[in-house]
Amino acid sequence: MDIRNVLRVKEIKPRYKVAYIPGDDSGFDVMEGAMIVLQAMDKAFGLPIDWVRADMGWCMWAKSCQEYPEGDPRRNTVPEETKQILRESDAALMAAITSKAGVKGFKSAILQMRQLFDLYINLRPAKSMPGITCPLKGDPKIDIVMFRENTEDLYAAVEFRPTPKEHFDMHPGMARFKDKEEVAVSWKVFSKEGCERIIRAAFEYAKATGRTKVVCATKANVIRATDGMFKEIFLNMAKEYPEIQAIDENADATAMWLIKNPQDYQVIVTPNVFGDILSDEASQLVGGMGFAPSGNIGKDFALFEPSHGSVPKYAHQYKINPCGLLNAATMMLEYLGLEEAARKLEAAISAVLVEGKDLTYDVFRDNGDPDWEKKAVSTLDMARAIARKILPDYDKHDAEISAKAKEMCAWEHLPQ
Ligand code: IPM
Ligand code: MG
Repeated sequence: MDIRNVLRVKEIKPRYKVAYIPGDDSGFDVMEGAMIVLQAMDKAFGLPIDWVRADMGWCMWAKSCQEYPEGDPRRNTVPEETKQILRESDAALMAAITSKAGVKGFKSAILQMRQLFDLYINLRPAKSMPGITCPLKGDPKIDIVMFRENTEDLYAAVEFRPTPKEHFDMHPGMARFKDKEEVAVSWKVFSKEGCERIIRAAFEYAKATGRTKVVCATKANVIRATDGMFKEIFLNMAKEYPEIQAIDENADATAMWLIKNPQDYQVIVTPNVFGDILSDEASQLVGGMGFAPSGNIGKDFALFEPSHGSVPKYAHQYKINPCGLLNAATMMLEYLGLEEAARKLEAAISAVLVEGKDLTYDVFRDNGDPDWEKKAVSTLDMARAIARKILPDYDKHDAEISAKAKEMCAWEHLPQ
């Protein structure tokens, strides 16, 4: 497998069509901030990207519920038009979407996208940033790249509640559940192909980037069939990469060692559920969820998003920091082969963090500043500070750029 086929866009082009998805609630705020920065980049050195708006999430669920009766398959968080826009795009940049528990028929938009486009790699880097201290003793420098499998495992959504009668005779282990009042079952489904491709991607990435160690985190000691298969494939494939140290760990131990010795990790490859948990843990070591990006990458398409949620209580108040989304944009630029632009964006974000002035409340607060409430600037002002590092005469263009960003992220006409 050529790593370029999975961590790089399918076809290098002079210009790319990229779908931007504000999503819901504070997603609109951070997308507007990101668009200020991305437009400043375009003015400064030309960004070969044509942006196309696409909507998904709670807003589209609400809209489809107004349009279609209960039980109609067109009631969905992702409308058909959005799927079509994504099919015609080279990549997508998504801000954040809102899910509400217990809503009949509601299916998470991001989970649907991972399945629809077979986005089997969830690439989750956790890297120390200048100006952000690690909560651990000694402020260790961390540079971890997590490869989370993104389509299988308990996320296969093969679930039973109540459990059909015939299941109780399928396996002797089910006998003791026979007389219980209520039994629910969720299948943990792994395929050989699914394990192979994510493990291959992790090894190839390590090789291509000069990393010397890949850790595989599973519970193969207990969960023999699925995690056992994952581990076995990992150890076999490791023989093809003699230059890379392949370490098999139990995921609970990985969770512990990440707190004890995070600087020892380079690349981690892990099944879906453990990756969900371990990546949140790792992000907390490098500034928290507010900074953590996530790349959902498949053979033909990729969708980049921050790991944080849509923070509905702060919707349209421009409170939260735009760096989770901007870090996701950095990953997307790399994916599109726009390395230089990616490095410039990364440097601009770092410069603003190091200066420590134009920051939103969450950054001040999480950095332990007692005056965080007084000092906080808005999402858009933090974005403008980043834009100024890229386009020194940004202020001359502010009115035009800000108006365009606002127009691109208009939300007022969407159902809430
Ligand atoms: C993530 C999120 C999602 C997941 C949720 C929102 C469905 O936690 O991207 O890590 O569980 O994968
Ligand atoms: Mg998660």
